[in-house]
Amino acid sequence: MGCRIAGCAKELPDLTVTNDDMSRIVDTSDEWIVKRTGIHERHIAVGETCTDMASAAITKALANAGIQHEEVDLLVCMTITPDTIIPSQACLIRARAGLSNAVAFDLNAACTGCIYGLEVATSMMESSMAQGSSEQKNPIRHAVIVGVERLSRIIDWTDRASCVLFGDGAGAVVLEWDEKAKGILSSFLKNTDDLDMLLSCDQHYDLSTFPFGDAQVETGSSIMWQGPNASHLDPERSTCGSIGMEGQQVFKWASSAMAEAAEEACKRGGISLEDVDVIIPHQANERIIRFAAKKLKVPMERFQVSIGSVGNTSASSVLMALTDAYDAGRVNPGDKVLLVGFGGGLTSGAMLLEA
Ligand code: ACO
Repeated sequence: MGCRIAGCAKELPDLTVTNDDMSRIVDTSDEWIVKRTGIHERHIAVGETCTDMASAAITKALANAGIQHEEVDLLVCMTITPDTIIPSQACLIRARAGLSNAVAFDLNAACTGCIYGLEVATSMMESSMAQGSSEQKNPIRHAVIVGVERLSRIIDWTDRASCVLFGDGAGAVVLEWDEKAKGILSSFLKNTDDLDMLLSCDQHYDLSTFPFGDAQVETGSSIMWQGPNASHLDPERSTCGSIGMEGQQVFKWASSAMAEAAEEACKRGGISLEDVDVIIPHQANERIIRFAAKKLKVPMERFQVSIGSVGNTSASSVLMALTDAYDAGRVNPGDKVLLVGFGGGLTSGAMLLEA
């Protein structure tokens, strides 16, 4: 409640890589990729950084919203592939895009980033604008939520089961505080421990100058393997520094996580799925969307499917698909829109809003 979507936009890198291009890199075919995923092509950042793509998307979204850069009070950036760790990706974007009055920080909820980011931003907006709060807190009248990824930097380009799935890009949404707007009607967030590392990307620490004890090579998953479920995990399985994925298991979990999140958000919002005008799911695999649609008994026509031309862009995915839905005239004032995400962590969630 109290905030509305004022504008959104996306930005894609120049290079388009088709399935035929992929078949020159790994043993695959256009037919296999289209049939199993719905993906025809993806965009890969060669010269563009996350800072470039996100800043361009934000500038377009602010222009659509008719809001000046300096009017933005909050910037939340969702990414798993920031250009740098310090400064945060959000701080780099703030400087590049000229959001000179924004408080800026990053948020990592992998492919569910959009839902988590919107939840955090709208909660901050609501609490800062609540009666009497604006003197105790930074007032947030305009917030920008941006998802940006250069997944091409963490792809194992020799693994045909994963490299054909992903792409790069940015999606941004501008939220405006509006007392009269219904805005966010409900949300649902969930974490499920990924003890078998179904989705992973290792962090490496250079311990060559570490002065204490006998430092071994340390990665994120080597820390995980010391945990209670160590016996289930195989240290050889993870390709360090690139996305590792147990495709079939992720597929199974994702289809039911998506259905669960959609149902729960509608239940909390007090409406039936039939009353939702458009569903914007995370674009990981068109077949996952079809499975969830069947489970939910909702016709595919009510889902925004954008994966064909962009692949899976993780934290950018839902915001880019939302932009496509607006551009196609699928979202009109008063419409009920349901955003649904799922991904690494494992994380899942949904947000029901009135446009
Ligand atoms: N081209 C040709 N053959 C391939 C390819 C490819 N690109 N990839 C795998 N194959 C082969 C396999 O080697 C296997 O061959 P085999 O039978 O000789 O062993 C065969 O195709 C079938 O493999 P499966 O893994 O069973 O194929 P499946 O139908 O499950 O599709 C896929 C694989 C597309 C990865 C699917 O499991 C999937 O989409 N999983 C979910 C992925 C996902 O959503 N990930 C991200 C979610 S979170 C996030 O976004 C980070």
